[in-house]
Amino acid sequence: MNIVVASQKEEACQYAASLLAPFFNARNPVRIGLATGETMIPIYQALVQQLTAKGQHGVGEVETFNLDEYWPIDPSHPGSFRQYMHRHLLSLVGSWIRKSYFLRGNARDPDFECRRFEGLLGEHPLDVQLLGLGINGHIGFNEPGTLFQSRTRKVSLTSTTKERNARQFPGIMPDDALTMGIADIMEAKAIILVVFGSDKRDVLIRAILGQVSEDCPASILKTHPHVTVVADEAAGSVLARRSPRVNRSITVTIL
Ligand code: F6R
Repeated sequence: MNIVVASQKEEACQYAASLLAPFFNARNPVRIGLATGETMIPIYQALVQQLTAKGQHGVGEVETFNLDEYWPIDPSHPGSFRQYMHRHLLSLVGSWIRKSYFLRGNARDPDFECRRFEGLLGEHPLDVQLLGLGINGHIGFNEPGTLFQSRTRKVSLTSTTKERNARQFPGIMPDDALTMGIADIMEAKAIILVVFGSDKRDVLIRAILGQVSEDCPASILKTHPHVTVVADEAAGSVLARRSPRVNRSITVTIL
């Protein structure tokens, strides 16, 4: 695992975007797992900037897969993750995208929908998965206590997650969601975890320095062979003090 800590959030966003841009610019088909949330907004902004600088266009080789979606929710609802993705990224980099896949928030049968999505992931393994970190350690909507072998499924949101996400949600937020499971996330060839802000500092320390435990879903990422964690100073200051290494398998770089 490589941890990169930037003194400014803006720098961290540019760095995270620079890790993603080569996937978008690949000349061969590439599958990218995307996330939503506040953390990702400035990252997508930086990515759009990097991709479209000097009037460049894509060659349409990218397939995107979104990590999760509220349920039930209409795909046209402004609070849906599908709309979020169109607003912040997909409508702005159309020429790079071959196809975007989402969990359908309006699926009548959520279990069937999750099996459909799981099947797509099986046929299209992810080259990279972008992740944010919940203040309770969740990744996707895999809340603490989720089994590491979990697959794509319907989950109930915890009150912590609902309170936090209500800040961005117009109207009444659904109680449930569909999410890729931890085992699905771990099958991505590479993972980029982005963590900003002092309120994530403790959970990041727990995920990186604590034991691998289902109480902190993000702690499993330490067992993946290709993970980069990008943090700003506010979230990563304690880890930055461990630079250049936390242990044999975790390096820390300060930008
Ligand atoms: C979003 C997602 C969530 C968020 C996490 C952090 O698709 O799956 O795990 O990445 O809740 O959210 P923010 O960035 O809003 O703090």
